[in-house]
Amino acid sequence: MLTVRAPATSANLGSGFDVFGAALTRPADVVRVERAPETTIEVTGVGAQYVPTDPAENTAGVVARELDAPAHIRIDKGVRPSSGLGSSAASAAGAAVALNELYDCGLSDEELVWLAAEGEAVVSGDAHADNVAPSILGGFTIVTDDGITTMDADLPVVVCLPETVVSTRDARGVVPRSVEMNEMVETVGNASTLVAGMCRDDPELVGRGLTDPVVTPARADLVDGYEAVEEAAREAGATGVTISGAGPGVLAVCRHRGQRRDVASAIVGAFAEAGVDAQAYQTEIGDGAEISR
Ligand code: HSE
Repeated sequence: MLTVRAPATSANLGSGFDVFGAALTRPADVVRVERAPETTIEVTGVGAQYVPTDPAENTAGVVARELDAPAHIRIDKGVRPSSGLGSSAASAAGAAVALNELYDCGLSDEELVWLAAEGEAVVSGDAHADNVAPSILGGFTIVTDDGITTMDADLPVVVCLPETVVSTRDARGVVPRSVEMNEMVETVGNASTLVAGMCRDDPELVGRGLTDPVVTPARADLVDGYEAVEEAAREAGATGVTISGAGPGVLAVCRHRGQRRDVASAIVGAFAEAGVDAQAYQTEIGDGAEISR
């Protein structure tokens, strides 16, 4: 029996659609694996009823199949499904790290990222790695077809999950197929600013770099109350706000840890005014998946 804690992640960070991601210190999934003649999956925890236990439809099951590592996999969900916090990715990442160790497969962390991304393809229809990369590697990650760049970052954030559901497939369906040149220029500027901010642990630059003229505006209508939430978070001191991953979660960058409580309550309050219950996590950028025995 082997246990891995795999963290929630926030993908995109506004200007880095399908490229940027960050591991969060909380919440997390806990994945336990045990050798077995064939793969079976058991799911408990938050939103467990929405997670398929058929190994062919579960991200962790697909990872076991791809690794040729059959196991009884127990997933204790801390990351709510369809929240925008990389829930299916956390399970895939946890399973990849755990099964690699259990069967002594010897895959590198980067190889595990691409493997876990195959699991992601099952739920989103696309093998993108912007959630699994930070869940395995930790910190802030930049994923391109040519490789993965990681860096540690010290950044206090609030993520807030409204009690609404947005499927990744639907959220990808509203993304524009093309962009104007001025939008591309703005996006490159903001993404570059964000990376500089991560390098310097500068929440002002990261907050500014979250601004995205293309994908976030197209998705905002899918998140009830998003505009009011963004305004409330900024009034409470957040340096920037965006939709976390495909939504409906939102992410706000704070100037310092002590500010998170005010930002969290401003966001929860704004969602409440829009008639939506929401749960906020005061968190920060943290480590990737960790094995414990
Ligand atoms: N980059 C992806 C998206 C993350 O925004 O659709 C969701 O899995």
